[in-house]
Amino acid sequence: MAQTQTKSKSNSSTAKSSNGNSGRSKRSANGSAGSKENQSTMLEELFLEELRDIYWAEKHLLKALPKMEKAATSKELRQSFADHLRVTKEQVTRLEEAFEILDAKAQGKKCEAMDGLTKEAEGIIEATEQGTLTRDVGLIMAAQKVEHYEIATYGSLAQLAKTLGKNDLAQLMVQTLEEEKEADKLLTTIAENNINVEATEE
Ligand SMILES: [Fe+2]
Repeated sequence: MAQTQTKSKSNSSTAKSSNGNSGRSKRSANGSAGSKENQSTMLEELFLEELRDIYWAEKHLLKALPKMEKAATSKELRQSFADHLRVTKEQVTRLEEAFEILDAKAQGKKCEAMDGLTKEAEGIIEATEQGTLTRDVGLIMAAQKVEHYEIATYGSLAQLAKTLGKNDLAQLMVQTLEEEKEADKLLTTIAENNINVEATEE
């Protein structure tokens, strides 16, 4: 019974939020949605929250990447993890610059998604044999999931910064976005070049 009640409650809130857009525009047409300045402040707060999320995520990756490098079989993949660790350190510094621009303390907030994605990578290491290319195939998949999460985050943050009229912030986000796209492409190349084919022979 209690469960049914909770369910119907959440349904109604979903229905409300799916109507949220028209509701919002109605409110602004009536002039009761608050000033433009207030809306920017709310957006800026959202930006800051997301920044804290990705800051935690990147710092968490600094701990995960060496484990992935150590676990990888092929020299190529090990090298790509080592390179991405170096790039990730620079990205952390770039995020600290973004906090500075916003006059906010650089502080992370646990990113459940990145925590889950790195746990998946650990699971792959546990489930595969050391020294096999099958493990590399799994690690590439795990790493690409991480990259895609980051691409989504930095893409959205870049757009949000532009909306807020903060071009210096947008530039920082775009720079990292491009690096994540490069990392993703490199992983695809490594998988396609040899590893996937050779793993079928194991
Ligand atoms: Fe990153």
